[in-house]
Amino acid sequence: MNKFVYDIPTKVYFGREQLSHLGDELKKFGSRVLLTYGGGSIKKMGLYDAVLKEIEKAGLELFELSGIEPNPRIESVRTGAQMCKEHKIDVVLAVGGGSTIDAAKFIAAGACVDHDPWDFLSKTWAPIHKALPIVSILTLSATGSEMDTAAVITNFATQEKIGRLDRNLLPRVSFLDPTNTFTVSPYQTACGSADIISHILEVYFAPEQDLYMLDCFMEGMLKTVIKYAPVAMKEPDNYEARANLMWTSSWAINGFITAGKRHAWSCHPIEHELSAFYDITHGLGLAIVTPRWMEYCLEESNVDKYVQFAVNVFGVEPSQDKMAVAKKGIELLANFFFETLGLDDNFTKIGIKSEDFPAMARKACAGGVISGFKPLAQADIEKIYQMCVE
Ligand code: NZQ
Ligand code: ZN
Repeated sequence: MNKFVYDIPTKVYFGREQLSHLGDELKKFGSRVLLTYGGGSIKKMGLYDAVLKEIEKAGLELFELSGIEPNPRIESVRTGAQMCKEHKIDVVLAVGGGSTIDAAKFIAAGACVDHDPWDFLSKTWAPIHKALPIVSILTLSATGSEMDTAAVITNFATQEKIGRLDRNLLPRVSFLDPTNTFTVSPYQTACGSADIISHILEVYFAPEQDLYMLDCFMEGMLKTVIKYAPVAMKEPDNYEARANLMWTSSWAINGFITAGKRHAWSCHPIEHELSAFYDITHGLGLAIVTPRWMEYCLEESNVDKYVQFAVNVFGVEPSQDKMAVAKKGIELLANFFFETLGLDDNFTKIGIKSEDFPAMARKACAGGVISGFKPLAQADIEKIYQMCVE
């Protein structure tokens, strides 16, 4: 167990009818607000009007940037950062899913520098000394961007999708009202749930064992998603299901479960290349990659962790044949993604072609090695992609 610092400073308003606090929270940072949102779902569900009402009531000055894309583009970030400078914005308010919140994070950082915001993500890796304060209103349970230091931006001109962690990117305040996710489609609910599961597994399957308590916490979160994702898909306005998914999405990635743990993510870099090359939905790519990655990494030396997963998460009967138990756990996870959630189960179905595997694999490991649960070099990643074909 390594030493760690626990410091997760995002203030969360969870539950129904908390929006009345929005004006006061924004006012703490100033009076000029940049509202960012996606392709219009917040207008259809009435949230846009509700937000505007609160902003008006608080006497704040509003500027808007709409049209943030899923797999948000650097072009939107550039536009947003420019707007912040032009209008002397005090606070960025992101209303939407992970894409909108991620874009807001680099808009807020880009507003504080003279260089291109892509420099934060490209090879130059410019330092992030500060960012404008970010407030988020989450509408899709998936990425955990509402309570984490990360943001991922796509640059289709260079065929890159790159993420970065920085404490300056943490939202200061996030509003988590499960009713704002009632309108999320069954497909996006499935993809979001696969994303949450992946965030947990990236940490659960780490090279070293740590706190038993954290493993139990992760197993509890996995069981929560497995229980409630199908409910939310069938009954979109089931508050209990949506609330459980929402709070799990935040806690899966807010830094709590990684405390003290040496870990490096594997499926995410492997998936980000799929999105960068094919603009696919992040959670779908993860659902296809994750069971194959687990299968590829399984060996005698790490089988106990797989057995723990199979037994504690899926209730597989323990037996002397540890490999069989381990494989059963992987099979049940795959069944959950592809049968229960109904996601496509291979690359062929979603049009990903093997001719791109070498380039995607090279980028995924940045020409070196992903040092996760099992170290993965380009050749390993190509094999995992190959396992995803059918
Ligand atoms: O654009 P609008 O109209 O809002 O529609 C969105 C979008 O089409 C829609 N949607 C969102 N809330 C809705 C809704 N539709 C109906 N009702 C609602 N309440 O859903 C679609 C997908 O939205 P998006 O924000 O793209 O989804 P998600 O939250 O899954 O975000 C995905 C992005 O986050 C990145 C991913 O790589 C991807 O770019 N990630 C960010 C992370 C982070 N910040 O820590 C970690 C993740 O691993 C991930 O990489
Ligand atoms: Zn993810």
